[in-house]
Amino acid sequence: MSEYTKVASLSELSSGEMKMVTVDEEDILLANVDGTIHAVSDLCSHADASLSDGYIEEGEVECPLHGSRFNLATGEALNLPADEPLKVYEIKVEGDDILVRIT
Ligand code: FES
Repeated sequence: MSEYTKVASLSELSSGEMKMVTVDEEDILLANVDGTIHAVSDLCSHADASLSDGYIEEGEVECPLHGSRFNLATGEALNLPADEPLKVYEIKVEGDDILVRIT
């Protein structure tokens, strides 16, 4: 069984910002895209890079190491060298709380 865990507050994640949170030893990248919160794996699917050290632009995050970009809503890898998608986490927002479901 899985449940939602509060990981952050909306007020600490403005539009266009992202941050890493850790739940059950899983590093998760939270991103605010025009007011919609997305949660994907923080670890790049190509190698050992933290995407929270990368760049967010137009609903995508760019890896700081080799420049692959990922769709923050779907996790899809958009250009090489990464060719595997990121894990996408279910989230919900309750008031000011951002909650992530770990499965
Ligand atoms: S580590 Fe992210 S593209 Fe290589």
